[in-house]
Formats: sequence, C-alpha cells, structure tokens
Amino acid sequence: MLEIKNIRCSIIDDDTPILENLSLTIHDGEVHAIMGPNGAGKSTLAKAIMGHYKYQITAGDICIDEESILHLTVDERAKKGLFLCMQDPTVIEGVSNSEFLRTARGSITGEKVNLYTFIKDMETAMKDVQLDSSMLHRSLNQGFSGGEKKKNEILQLKCLKPKYILLDELDSGLDVDSLRIVCDNINQYRHDNPDTSVLIITHYPRILEYLKPDYVHILKDGYIQKSGGIDLAFEVEESGYTNIHAASGDEKSE
Ligand SMILES: Nc1ncnc2c1ncn2[C@@H]1O[C@H](COP(=O)(O)OP(=O)(O)OP(=O)(O)O)[C@@H](O)[C@H]1O
Ligand SMILES: [Mg+2]
Repeated sequence: MLEIKNIRCSIIDDDTPILENLSLTIHDGEVHAIMGPNGAGKSTLAKAIMGHYKYQITAGDICIDEESILHLTVDERAKKGLFLCMQDPTVIEGVSNSEFLRTARGSITGEKVNLYTFIKDMETAMKDVQLDSSMLHRSLNQGFSGGEKKKNEILQLKCLKPKYILLDELDSGLDVDSLRIVCDNINQYRHDNPDTSVLIITHYPRILEYLKPDYVHILKDGYIQKSGGIDLAFEVEESGYTNIHAASGDEKSE
C-alpha cells in the first residue's frame, strides 16, 4: 500500500508550498488517476513520491506498507518497487539504452544480469511496445521522438518490474495506435502482477478508458479537491476545472 499522508511539499530552499495537506491512499492492485490544471502540482507530487532531489517534504509522510520512505534515496525507493514514467524523460548522451537498463535491473535485483538473456528479454519487450530494436543501442533518449521516449519508459517498466507505477502524462506524445499498444502492455503487466498499483497523471479521459481507474482525483491549488470514478474525468473534459471545488467541510483533505 502506498500512502501519502497530509504532505506539504516545496522546492528545496524555498518554503512556498506547491502541495499542502495532500493525502492519497493507493491500496495494492488499485488504479488511481489524478487530473488537474497546468501547474497544479501533479508532476511535483510524482517527483516527491520518487524522492527527487529538488523537492522537500516539510510536513506529513509518504509510506509504503506503513513504513515511511522519506529518508530513502531515489534508488532505495526504486528498490521498494516505485517507478516513475516521467513527463519529460531525461536524455543521457553517451550512456546506451541497453547499458542503462541492464545496470538498473542489476541494481534493483542485486544480481548480475546475464547479457544474452537480457538482450533476448529486451528484444521481446521492444516488439511488445513496437519499438525498433536498434534503439536499445542508442544513447538513452538521445534523438528519440516524443512517442519513442514514452515507449522507452514502458520498456524500462517491463525491465524493472515495479510494484508501484507512477505514469506522468504517458499519453502526451503517443499517437492513437501507440497509446493503445502501451496501455495493452500495462494492462497485461497488471494481469500478470495483480498486486501492482498504478497512479495515472493525465489531462485526457482516453488513457483512462484503456486503464480503467478505480478512482479519479482532481488536484487543484495544491491538494485533492474532489474524488470520484471515471465519470469525473468526462465531467472535466466537458466543463473544465472552473466549477470543481472542494466540498464544504472537506477543505484541504482527500
Ligand atoms: N523545480 C522547480 N523550480 C521552480 N518551480 C517549480 C519547480 N517544480 C515545480 N515548480 C512549480 O510548481 C508548480 C507545479 O508544477 P508541476 O510541474 O508539478 O505542475 P503540473 O500539475 O504537473 O502541471 P502540467 O499539467 O503543466 O504538467 C508550477 O507552478 C511550477 O512552475
Ligand atoms: Mg506535469
């Protein structure tokens, strides 16, 4: 279970909160979605959960199975099963995609990764996401198209086998066929690993139609103002965020 307990989050060395009194509980096997206006703090939340060095949690707690992870580094959190599919995947020139994936897998499992098995696994995974196998040997994300970067994030997911998946605008940059392919891969992964929890950050209901969230939350002004089912996503698509307000008496809570 992943729990975000009443957190206050800001950029390091700047006390102005981006998130405040934000709580969210994701039980094993659940799929949650977060929508919200640009700049509301959705990516900040994802990065704070992952332990990004630019963000500080100054109140509240983030727990996995009731144990705080706030003291853990990014790689320690990854070893706990957390994975962030980034809104803007990082380019690392000079580090090949295969080197990166193999090192990451070895670090997560604590075991030496056999090169032959690894390449075979990755080639199968690349076929699954319809990514050309030559991309395994290119520098990480260097010159990848927007959609290729997103597919490469899913390749990482298939390689690292996380338990808690954070998808930050996976759908941005993917064409309609690629979005379906990527979502089919995520659904297959969830089918094979039913304990997996997913947090989808998106602006559009289409990805939610594929991934079928149990809950949809609206993050606005730094906290979750409203929660509901997938209907809430269609409501936002139709009417925007202007009329979404926290229920009175439920200010600044989940
Ligand atoms: N590292 C940073 N330095 C300065 N400001 C930041 C930083 N990270 C986040 N912010 C600010 O915090 C606010 C929330 O940003 P965030 O990226 O979390 O928004 P978002 O909800 O993901 O928006 P979008 O839908 O556009 O992706 C924004 O006003 C942003 O400018
Ligand atoms: Mg964002």
